[in-house]
Amino acid sequence: MARLRVAVLISGRGSNMKALLEAARDPAYPAEIGLVAANVPGAGGLALARAAGIATAELDHRQYSGRESFERALNSRLIEAGIEFVCLAGFMRLLTPYFVDAWAGRMLNIHPSLLPAFPGLDTHARALDAGVRFAGCTVHFVTGEMDVGPIVAQAAVPVLPGDDAATLGARVLAAEHRLYPGALALVASGRAKVVDGKVRIDGPTAVPLPAFNPTL
Ligand code: GRF
Repeated sequence: MARLRVAVLISGRGSNMKALLEAARDPAYPAEIGLVAANVPGAGGLALARAAGIATAELDHRQYSGRESFERALNSRLIEAGIEFVCLAGFMRLLTPYFVDAWAGRMLNIHPSLLPAFPGLDTHARALDAGVRFAGCTVHFVTGEMDVGPIVAQAAVPVLPGDDAATLGARVLAAEHRLYPGALALVASGRAKVVDGKVRIDGPTAVPLPAFNPTL
């Protein structure tokens, strides 16, 4: 089986990237990680990737005259590395139509909320302020609008009494580490496809029982 050759783009610690690398160590996993690229020099995830023997690229966006020139340099590195698909994992840089169009239908993002609720930053504090009983995370295809695009998969976690943004964020992050490898596998194996602006998943699907808030 040919494995989809994926680049992971990061800006920071790279814990989701690490989850993807670990999943891809299994030869039966339908994607391989061909490159980890960061726009922030010294991003923690770069060291993790190098330690795992993965090729890395460090492109400091401040060294470029604008967003698009940075993206053109990044795109060249992706093409040189034979990359077919991109996973954003804590990549804190808005993308221009140049890059979004170049990777349309071939780029995923993970966001720490149950989209379409709470796009943008500070999702856990905003979820707590809103009083929601469930929080969670979303893997979606990237479009020109930030945190908007066909949803591949979501995981929900309860909001518990006494939670603050840190405790809730840690619970969501643990779910992210399970969700992203699973969502990428669905796409890389061809089971998840965008049809009429939504993701259709073919084949058998595990149907979980409804979840109720554990304080009930
Ligand atoms: C994650 O919460 C991800 O959902 C968001 O940025 C954070 C990145 O964390 N987009 P890490 O670098 O993967 O640890």
